[in-house]
Amino acid sequence: MPKPIIINRIIKKYNKKIKVDGDKSLSIRFAILASQAIGKSKADNLLKSEDVESTINCLKKLGVKIRWDKKNNFCLITGNGLNSYVYKDNLTLNGNNSGTCVRLLTSLLINSSKKIKIIGDKSLSKRDMKRIIDPLTEFGATFYPKNKYTLPLYIKGSNYLTPINYLELKGSSQCKSAVMLAALSVPGETKLICKPSRNHTELLFKYLKIPIKIKKFNNFEIIKVKGKQNFKAFNYNIPSDISSSAFFIVLTLLSQDSKLIIENVGVNKSRSGIIQILNKMGAKINLKNKKNYKGEMVADIHVRSAKSLNSINCPSKLNTSAIDEFLIIFLAAAKAKGVSYFKNLEELNKKESRRLDWGSKILSMMGVKNKLIKNHGIKIWGQPNLKLNNRYEIKNYLKDHRVMAMSTIAALTLGGEWKIHNPESIRTSFPSFFKILKKDLGSKINL
Ligand code: S3P
Repeated sequence: MPKPIIINRIIKKYNKKIKVDGDKSLSIRFAILASQAIGKSKADNLLKSEDVESTINCLKKLGVKIRWDKKNNFCLITGNGLNSYVYKDNLTLNGNNSGTCVRLLTSLLINSSKKIKIIGDKSLSKRDMKRIIDPLTEFGATFYPKNKYTLPLYIKGSNYLTPINYLELKGSSQCKSAVMLAALSVPGETKLICKPSRNHTELLFKYLKIPIKIKKFNNFEIIKVKGKQNFKAFNYNIPSDISSSAFFIVLTLLSQDSKLIIENVGVNKSRSGIIQILNKMGAKINLKNKKNYKGEMVADIHVRSAKSLNSINCPSKLNTSAIDEFLIIFLAAAKAKGVSYFKNLEELNKKESRRLDWGSKILSMMGVKNKLIKNHGIKIWGQPNLKLNNRYEIKNYLKDHRVMAMSTIAALTLGGEWKIHNPESIRTSFPSFFKILKKDLGSKINL
């Protein structure tokens, strides 16, 4: 097992421009949609991470022709149209750590004539699959064993699929996207009523001219997808990931006299809640050079050290657009003036690890008073002059990449001596994390 990292020096001031790795959600969606398109699709800057790797490997096992040239940073996927996967009996697909890979890809197997086994790593095998089993069963697929809702699971599809009406109340884009992708295999119109969540799948459907109608109704989105309509191969240049950028945004806010530009980041409103939250806390994060790329907003993020941050009573309506960023937002709240309050975040304990609990645990370890509110919220008593001098050890966190990255940023901004186990966990989403910290920003980390 790779060695833990030791961090015992805070980062020195910097004034830099960086580029972070490609967006994970868009990379996985590109691969999955390209595998069902007609012809050869090309992605530039596909994220070279383990989660995307798992998706590509599953698609290869489903008979899809893929050439991923990592050196030249492009990926070619040849699709043969809807429902064109060709595979052996007794197929096993391994999603490893990726919930997005498994939940989105399973939805394209609802018409498989053969039983397919789906597995994942220790973390993924703890995560709830009932959320996709229920709607996919309603379409006509069957899951085995019955009444089991975690991996490993088997799926067997059907030739007699019928469209469904689906109500999505968790604000989960994985659930919404699973139903939208499943709807592609089903004759007729599938209707979804959803609490808003990241809308990459909708934007890609529109761009690919897949028949989709979207309406807003009160605080819900009504989405209608007409199935059995083939679509053509496409080219896509994946923008940088705002969830990876988030660690560098907070690193800069909490460091002294520093400035950072992060180039070409996907800042789609349904993903960029962190910017609104931190700006409400008094940060001055600016988006420059904004443009629309195939429906997605992309911009350069400009951020500088914050003189001070204020606490926040975080509006729940921002939760889904910052769902992967709360650990690093909690760290910002630990240095803010006053008591911050985050609520209605029950989904956080259903991620790669129990993130709400981990946030609380790491803050407590740092001596920051906090209180968990049932299973959904946290109050954080910020300390603007927080400086750490003790020893801290981060281990047994189910290798959750975001727990690892948040701890690293805490160590580099607050001091103390940190020993962080399984640094390789970052490879699931952001393989260049340490390279950027060391080479671009000059931090001293013993790797
Ligand atoms: C994702 C959606 C989110 C997020 C995950 C990626 C996606 O999950 O946490 O990292 O690409 O659709 P939920 O939609 O289940 O909240």
